[in-house]
Amino acid sequence: MQALDALHLRSSVPKLGDPLPAPEVLQNIYQAAFRAADHGVLRPWRFLLVKGKSRERLGQLFVEAALTDNPELSDQQKLKLQAKPLRAPLILITVSNSKEHPKVPAFEQDLSAAAATQNMLLAAFAQNVGAMWRTGPMAYHPVVKKGLGLAAHEKIIAFLYIGTITGGTKTLTEPDLSSFFQDW
Ligand SMILES: Cc1cc2nc3c(=O)[nH]c(=O)nc-3n(C[C@H](O)[C@H](O)[C@H](O)COP(=O)(O)O)c2cc1C
Repeated sequence: MQALDALHLRSSVPKLGDPLPAPEVLQNIYQAAFRAADHGVLRPWRFLLVKGKSRERLGQLFVEAALTDNPELSDQQKLKLQAKPLRAPLILITVSNSKEHPKVPAFEQDLSAAAATQNMLLAAFAQNVGAMWRTGPMAYHPVVKKGLGLAAHEKIIAFLYIGTITGGTKTLTEPDLSSFFQDW
């Protein structure tokens, strides 16, 4: 796929299934993260790969976290949370791992980790692999962060769900560029 086609046509795919993309396809996705704009080339990120049985452990962690907020969680709510990571064969967790730097505030480093995530979305799309960036309350929950082994300063930027496209893809609407880009 041409680069501009990927940039103009990428869309998220919520319905993802097996199989996991081939190793070389995944390598292309991982490599794309490293061409994100990155002030100071600090590489302020790391990625956790959650696949196979680890997805069940992640679901369990979501339940544990939610129970600390609401010990009265219903069985249905627990099952829903437990099943969330099973929506794709791979969940790639982008962790912003910002460093102390005299010129690059942590906020900018978080932006770089987000840009790395967007690059991976594009690399997935360019290879006909489905992907969707999700967060939600679990991304910010201290129990989840601790269970995943994050340091105090680290943040979850994305749960990037990756897999084989199983549903239809959506029709894109053309934005009215003139309402977003104005001469100043
Ligand atoms: C930081 C961030 C967090 C997001 N979290 C969620 C989420 O938790 N659930 C969700 O349905 N979409 C979430 N999205 C939006 C989807 O990834 C997607 O971009 C959106 O549905 C629009 O579809 P498109 O990417 O095909 O344009 C998030 C996007 C970003 C940038």
